[in-house]
Amino acid sequence: MRSLLQNLIFVFCVLGPVGVFPQVPGFGQCPTHPVMKKFDYRKFLGEWYEVARQFTWFELGWKCVYTNVTDLGGKVLGFMDRAVTIFDAKLFFDGKTKPLDPKEPAKLVFKPFDKLPFRMKLWILDTDYKEYCIFWTCVDFLKVSHAENLWIYSRNKTIRQSTKVKIIQFLDKNKVNRYGLKHTNQTNCPW
Ligand SMILES: *[C@@H]1O[C@H](CO)[C@@H](O)[C@H](O)[C@H]1NC(C)=O
Ligand SMILES: *[C@@H]1O[C@H](CO)[C@@H](O)[C@H](O)[C@H]1NC(C)=O
Ligand SMILES: *[C@@H]1O[C@H](CO)[C@@H](O)[C@H](O)[C@H]1NC(C)=O
Repeated sequence: MRSLLQNLIFVFCVLGPVGVFPQVPGFGQCPTHPVMKKFDYRKFLGEWYEVARQFTWFELGWKCVYTNVTDLGGKVLGFMDRAVTIFDAKLFFDGKTKPLDPKEPAKLVFKPFDKLPFRMKLWILDTDYKEYCIFWTCVDFLKVSHAENLWIYSRNKTIRQSTKVKIIQFLDKNKVNRYGLKHTNQTNCPW
């Protein structure tokens, strides 16, 4: 049996180039977390700023991460993503989501790049539509280990302290791994 580290190295090598990939490792299978009940994608449309995320190679050093969620019809949402890389390059890419099952509209499948076949699950654990959103993803490796990632988005470039506290409480209550969750810089951004 390969070790967790070997699995992760394998995954980085195979998927690294498109590695919008969960990267907080854990043992055993992916935990099951509650998702947003009665998720209404119409209220979710519009602008969102990433205010915190767990470590991903892909987003290493990224700041000003922003998305504009649009309705593409048939429950498909467009994610018009923008970011500034560590080398100050501006990135623009279009992703799409679709619910895995119409009965569970908060369990989305995210296709980060229109032209690449890569997909990942993207669950909305919680959102109030007007202030914050908690995204989570997780991938199982051979049922012995998993890797997950958490992103906090806000309607504003910053998030109120009281909302931050509420989010942390929500995560802890639901035993969501928030190890290494780090603030995303949204100052002096081009948008
Ligand atoms: C977000 O996308 C919608 C639909 O394409 C567009 O009408 C709107 O202007 C965009 N908002 C921003 C701030 O770019
Ligand atoms: C968003 O930012 C604006 C301007 O700083 C502020 O007036 C507003 O209260 C903020 N909204 C929330 C929900 O934090
Ligand atoms: C955020 O980015 C700005 C502009 O690039 C920079 O001046 C500032 O030091 C950064 N803040 C942090 C906490 O890294």
